[in-house]
Amino acid sequence: MEDLKTCPVEGVRELDFNSEEFARNYKSIYRELHESGCPYAHSTDGDFFALAAHKDIVEACVKSQQWSSKYGPGLQYQSPETPGVLVSVDPPEHTFEAKLVGKAFSKAYFESFIPGIRAYLNERIDAVFAKGGCDIHKEISEPLPLWVIFKMFGKEIDADFMTSFREGFVVGVGQMLRREAPAVRTNESTHFLADHLAETRRRLASGEAKPDDNLLTKFITTELDGRRLTDEKILGFCSFLLTAGSGTTTIMLSNLLHRLLQAPELFERVKADRDLIPVAIEECLRVDAPVHGLFRTNNEATEIGPLKLKPDTKVMMLWSAGSLDPNVFPEPQKFDLDREMSEIRKHLAFGYGIHICRGAPLSRIEGGLFLEVLMDRLPNLRLDGEPTPETRIPVLQGIRALPVAWDV
Ligand code: HEM
Repeated sequence: MEDLKTCPVEGVRELDFNSEEFARNYKSIYRELHESGCPYAHSTDGDFFALAAHKDIVEACVKSQQWSSKYGPGLQYQSPETPGVLVSVDPPEHTFEAKLVGKAFSKAYFESFIPGIRAYLNERIDAVFAKGGCDIHKEISEPLPLWVIFKMFGKEIDADFMTSFREGFVVGVGQMLRREAPAVRTNESTHFLADHLAETRRRLASGEAKPDDNLLTKFITTELDGRRLTDEKILGFCSFLLTAGSGTTTIMLSNLLHRLLQAPELFERVKADRDLIPVAIEECLRVDAPVHGLFRTNNEATEIGPLKLKPDTKVMMLWSAGSLDPNVFPEPQKFDLDREMSEIRKHLAFGYGIHICRGAPLSRIEGGLFLEVLMDRLPNLRLDGEPTPETRIPVLQGIRALPVAWDV
């Protein structure tokens, strides 16, 4: 795809999305992009274009026939011989997959995790309570979303496995804004999932497991539109859910707590009025959207603002910049619990259009229980130093360590 390279365009801001400088200053860069009246960027490293205006992103995402996902959500052109799932396919395959996931991910299904999540959070707090402080990112924000997803697959995992999964995640997702595909695409979790799938099939065949036991048994036994899923597809779904649903939710949890503890009066306000928890979650997703952006390619020659795009050009939809667009959100960079929920919900943190996040209700449940349990259990919870920003994964933004303390 060498010939599809873009190039700088006069008047369009040159950025390096892979740089530490961008990771540390992206909020002011987005502000400048919006204020410039030319909300488009070109990345020097990786050589791609990005859309920052809410309106442009929404317009592209609703035109899924024109803006394709077939080359995958990252900067590398995914080969048509090895298609991915969901965010890497277009209709009609996407329609089939979305129907299947939509059927499994009902409101009742997600709510069935509430008691387990609450118990898990309490266990994690019991383990550190006497110390009077911890890195809450490491102790809760990282393990909780992974624990939930493996629970969906009917599998308990230990701390060592979580660490090894996180390392693979940082390397794999860390390269999404690179032109070259990562050299190694499989890691320990790929083999682990394949073994678990084989074992689940065996248990189903012997009658030890039932079709409704968990998401994996459902994927194996479901027949939709006269079709059953191949092992390759099931593994694709599982790997995707692990990647899409863990690191993103991890970032949201730490950002959320940081937002509130940074302004202790906000923490106290939400603690006293728990009805504000959903507002705090949504406003945090808007102001600190965990995913900067993901890619589409245009099926035909297209013009947007000053950009003249050849067919199949990789263009990043900047969910995070669109969620800070002053044309949609007054004082966009202000974390404001008094905004109307219907206004906040115009944010693009979960994407837009046919590929909109299917796990959003689950991450909201996790965020709500996380805050509730911390508020109930940890007296005088406060920051205990500055958070360390996560700068190893340029496509995401967030926190890598969040020291907190409480009274024992
Ligand atoms: C705060 C947490 C999360 C954020 C910020 C987030 C963000 C996103 C975004 C931006 C997309 C759109 C991708 C695109 O259009 O290219 C997406 C899609 C998706 N997400 Fe999430 N996500 C989160 C949590 C989850 C969780 C917990 C799950 C499931 C366990 C999940 C499952 C999915 C699925 C299945 C899709 C693909 C939808 C499709 O292509 O039809 N996500 N997510």
